[in-house]
Amino acid sequence: MQPLPRPYRKAIFVCVNEREPGKAACGNRGSVALFKELKARMRELKLNKEIRVTRTRCLGLCEVGPNVAVYPEGTWYSAVKPEDLEALMARHVAPFESAAPIRGDRVGLVVADLEKAKEFYENILGAKFRPTEEVPGQAFRYAPFEVGGFSLELLSPTDGDGVIRRFLESRGEGVHHISFRVDDLDATIRQLEEKGVKIAARLDYPPEVIFEGCRWREAFLHPRDGFGVLIHFAEVKRLSPSD
Ligand code: FES
Repeated sequence: MQPLPRPYRKAIFVCVNEREPGKAACGNRGSVALFKELKARMRELKLNKEIRVTRTRCLGLCEVGPNVAVYPEGTWYSAVKPEDLEALMARHVAPFESAAPIRGDRVGLVVADLEKAKEFYENILGAKFRPTEEVPGQAFRYAPFEVGGFSLELLSPTDGDGVIRRFLESRGEGVHHISFRVDDLDATIRQLEEKGVKIAARLDYPPEVIFEGCRWREAFLHPRDGFGVLIHFAEVKRLSPSD
């Protein structure tokens, strides 16, 4: 089994389970039409590759159906009627129509000894690590991992001077940054600058630099603008077979 990068930014589950007439079931109360309408809206808005609308069998709450669950928010709705569609769209779909949506990716932790820290997270907390990546020219390496449904990475200096060594020497081990994925880094930067936020740094790697099987472009907000936290935005493109 392999951890999979989240394939959709959002998933909306609509229970369409049907039972014989007279029995409580979402599908007997109009949820099929609701599912079809939601699906059609995603196609119209060209969001169907980002927001997955899925019909499900019984979610175990038949008496209060039709039931709808929205993830990653983890918000559940019962007694959903056709006239609730607009409210659902406004609450969960409209934010995606903004030019540059962001989604939470991971937290980066600086550690002095990568192998020792990995051992702790693996053996004590049950973390699943992906391969460690070397960052050329910046004198550090990082090990991404998942634990308890949470994504993190350990960053550790290698030989030479670099931002991670300087961080470690001045602040010690601990949280280095929080990271958001974006689809279009330029659009995100434009949107942030329109809101008066200053980008502290940008990183555009040469095409041969690949991390985690992907090409990355990155930008950072300085901790003084992020209430003490370095905020990282990453546009991450998986390599195609022709690359
Ligand atoms: S039929 Fe929908 S929750 Fe059971």
